[in-house]
Amino acid sequence: MLRRNSHSSSLSPVRPVVDRADDLPSSWENAAEAYCLPGNRDVARHLISLTVIVGARPNFVKMAPILEEAGRRSAFQCRLIHTGQHYSPEMSAMFFDELGMPAPDVNLEIGSGSHTEQTAGVMLRLEMELNEQRPDLLLVVGDVNSTMAAALVASKLGIPVAHVEAGLRSFDRRMPEETNRLVTDVVSDYLFASEPSGVTNLLAEGIPKEKIFLVGNVMIDTLMKYRDKAAHTGVLDRLGLKGKDYAVATLHRPSNVDGMEHLASLLNMLRELSRRMPVVFPVHPRTRERMRAAGLTEHGMILTEPLGYLEFLRLTSEARLVLTDSGGIQEETTILRVPCLTMRENTERPITIEQGTNRLVGTDPKEILRAALDTLNAPPRFLAPPKFWDGKASARILDVLERSIGDRVNCSRMVSLRD
Ligand code: UD1
Repeated sequence: MLRRNSHSSSLSPVRPVVDRADDLPSSWENAAEAYCLPGNRDVARHLISLTVIVGARPNFVKMAPILEEAGRRSAFQCRLIHTGQHYSPEMSAMFFDELGMPAPDVNLEIGSGSHTEQTAGVMLRLEMELNEQRPDLLLVVGDVNSTMAAALVASKLGIPVAHVEAGLRSFDRRMPEETNRLVTDVVSDYLFASEPSGVTNLLAEGIPKEKIFLVGNVMIDTLMKYRDKAAHTGVLDRLGLKGKDYAVATLHRPSNVDGMEHLASLLNMLRELSRRMPVVFPVHPRTRERMRAAGLTEHGMILTEPLGYLEFLRLTSEARLVLTDSGGIQEETTILRVPCLTMRENTERPITIEQGTNRLVGTDPKEILRAALDTLNAPPRFLAPPKFWDGKASARILDVLERSIGDRVNCSRMVSLRD
């Protein structure tokens, strides 16, 4: 039910540090730069206890660089909690291995279930843990059920919450992730935005600007770190592919895979595309289940199990075209400069369209196929990468936290010592 790891929970050595305390920037516009000034580092006098939550595949990719950066700094002591939302080796353990993440201190083992079951499961089990540990801050990433559930628990216990990837909005309340984003943001104390639209949305929702920090994209931190290593995976040879001569497809959104007819028509469209070039389709467990239940077998495409991070990164880097309904893949292809067609009606990541290689193509299979063939004939222009998608987003986040929470923790400890 709730598994604890016996190894030490600290990722950083215990060492109190003393430095200075300047005023915090009052606006998101200059926050990231201000906190990156070397003189603003190492202000905490006591360790800042940080509990970080991961639950599903994209969380691991986003949290890995944050954990690594925290481990480099003497100011932080981290406790890693895995909710167990994703649990199979290829959706979870493989990512911990490849990204060099420490084993979780606790696994809540909530597993699969309805949204309510997953959310309630995390809340009940995490409440005990947070009550025991009382960290200085809970840090969550992204928009999965585990993210929202954990943020709610901490907020109700009076533990400050930091949300990484705050402010993204699809404005489509039918998406479970949109509810998760809205709820998480409203209870968060530190809102770290990956792109300017996040800041605009949060301000429009009445979040005070002092809580908002434009820091860039932690997923790109991971991509930049592992891109060279990924080149040695040999995945192209293993699948019999030549660079820039194949397409990659992924599908897992309930709106695309839960309706049998729609899923069948999307698979037909991909099969059609595979007459033009090989199409590799790593199948998400949700999609695999739906295909099995509907008796949909596949011929023509290259179907694989979900791939590990390095193999998938290599596969997308060398693709001529990517078709997806994922959020993170829209961002990764923007930096990899690989044309991406997003099979959705909306995106919460508009910068990938304005400045990246992404194009929203809707969910009509005929339109998607037409867009794919058009893109093969006329690939998009490449622009400069979005601001702060430079491999340093995690450092910006920890600069803000070290500065702000370090000061708060020190003040409250001084008060309690005086008492
Ligand atoms: C979740 C997130 C989504 C994210 C996606 C990435 C929510 C609401 N959705 O969707 O935002 O983009 O993860 O993958 O949190 N399963 C396995 N093995 C696993 C995990 C899941 O077989 O390791 C199966 C289960 O049968 C489960 C189904 O996949 O019922 C769906 O998993 P679930 O956690 O409900 O959400 P995802 O569709 O993966």
